[in-house]
Amino acid sequence: MLRARRFDAAVMKVPFSPPDIRQEDIDAVVDVLRSGWITTGPVSRQFEAALAAYMGVHQAVTVNSCTAALELALRALGVGPGDEVIVPAYTYTASAAVVEHVGAQVVLVDTAPGEYRPDIPTILAAVTERTKAVIVVDIAGVPFPADDLRTALEGSRPAGRLGVLDRMERPAVIVDGAHSLGATRKGMRAGQLGDFTAFSFHAVKNLTTGEGGALCWRPDLEIDDDVATRLVRRLSLHGQTKDALAKTQAGQWEYDIIERGYKSNMPDILAALGLSQLGRYDEMLATRRGLIAGYADGLAGLATVLPHAGTEFLSSAHLAMVDLGALAPHRQQIINHMAEAGISTNVHYKPLPLLTAYRSNFDIVDFPNAHAQYLAELTLPLHTLLTDESLEYVIASFREAVERAA
Ligand SMILES: Cc1ncc(COP(=O)(O)O)c(C=O)c1O
Repeated sequence: MLRARRFDAAVMKVPFSPPDIRQEDIDAVVDVLRSGWITTGPVSRQFEAALAAYMGVHQAVTVNSCTAALELALRALGVGPGDEVIVPAYTYTASAAVVEHVGAQVVLVDTAPGEYRPDIPTILAAVTERTKAVIVVDIAGVPFPADDLRTALEGSRPAGRLGVLDRMERPAVIVDGAHSLGATRKGMRAGQLGDFTAFSFHAVKNLTTGEGGALCWRPDLEIDDDVATRLVRRLSLHGQTKDALAKTQAGQWEYDIIERGYKSNMPDILAALGLSQLGRYDEMLATRRGLIAGYADGLAGLATVLPHAGTEFLSSAHLAMVDLGALAPHRQQIINHMAEAGISTNVHYKPLPLLTAYRSNFDIVDFPNAHAQYLAELTLPLHTLLTDESLEYVIASFREAVERAA
C-alpha cells in the first residue's frame, strides 16, 4: 500500500486547479497587446468560430462569464416577471441567481437519490404553465440528458411566447455547461444537447481565459442564427447597435441604443488565451480523463469517484468528485489531514437552500437528497499540471486520512 510518508510532505504541494499557461498562450496574448486592438474584435470572432466548430454548432457568442451567458439566454427568450424557471438545488449560485436578475421566479428541485442532478420526472412534476425554461447543470463535466428532457417536456406548453424561440411549444432547456466543454453524449458534443448552452472559461475551468464564457444554441434549433447572434451580441453590449470596432471605422461613428442593456462582451486579450488553449484542448481532456481513471483505481474500495464515462456519455473530466459514503462524518478531518500534507481539496456544492441568500425562500428539509449528497462530497485536485507522482501522493494521503479517521 502507498504511504504518504514515502513522499516528502515538506516539499509536496498539490494545488486544487491552477491554470496551465504555456508559452504559446503568452505569445498569443502578447500579439494582441501589440496589435493596436485589445477589446472585442477579430480575435474574439476567431475564438467564436473555433468554439462553434469544436462543438459542432452554428454559432457561439463569447462573453465575460458563464453567468452572463446564462442570463443572456434568459433575456433572448424574453423570460421575466411572472415567469418561473426550474433550477436544481445542487449547483453554484450562478445557475439560479440569473433567473432573479431577469425578474423571474426560481423553482428549485431536489436531486435524484444518490446523484448530483435531478431526474426528469422530478423536473416534470415542477412544471406549471408559468414555466418558461429549465436550467440543468452538467456537474463535474458529466452531460445532463438535456436531449431526453427536451422530449419529455413536449406537451408542457407555457402560457405566452418564448422570445427568440417564438414557435416553441414547450419550456426551453438551458444547459449550465460551466464544466462541460468537450463532453459528449450519444455522439453529440456539449452545446448540441440543450436548446441553449452556457460555458465558463473562469480561471479554474478546463479551458480558461481568466474570466470568460460563451453561449451557443443547438444546430437543429428553429432559430435564425443571424438574428439570434445579433440579439445576443447587442444584449451583451448595452443594447448598442454597433460594437467598438465597427464604430471606429472611418465615418462610422453613429449608433443607436435599442434597449438599456448590460455589458458583458469578451475582449480580444482574453479571446487570444482561449483560442490558444482550444488548439490543444483535446490533449488536455485526455490528460484529465487519465487522471480521473487513476483516482478511480487508487480509491477503489475506499470511496466512490463519480464515473466520467458510460455507455452513452464521456464527460469533460472537470471535477474529481468523491462520494465518501460511510466516511462522510469524517469529511472535515480528511480535508484537514490533506491540507496539512499540502493538498488543496474542495466541496462541490453546498446546496443553494443552505446558503444565506436562499434560506429565506427555501428550506433544506425539502431537498433531502441534495443535502445527503453534499454531506458526503469531497473534490480532489484535478488539473493538467498534476503529475503521476502528485496523483499517487494525493491517493496515499487520502488513504492515510481515512485510516486515522476510522
Ligand atoms: C455550475 C456552475 N455554473 C456557473 C458558474 C459561473 O461561471 P462564471 O464564473 O464563468 O460566471 C460556475 C462557476 O464556477 C459553476 O461552477
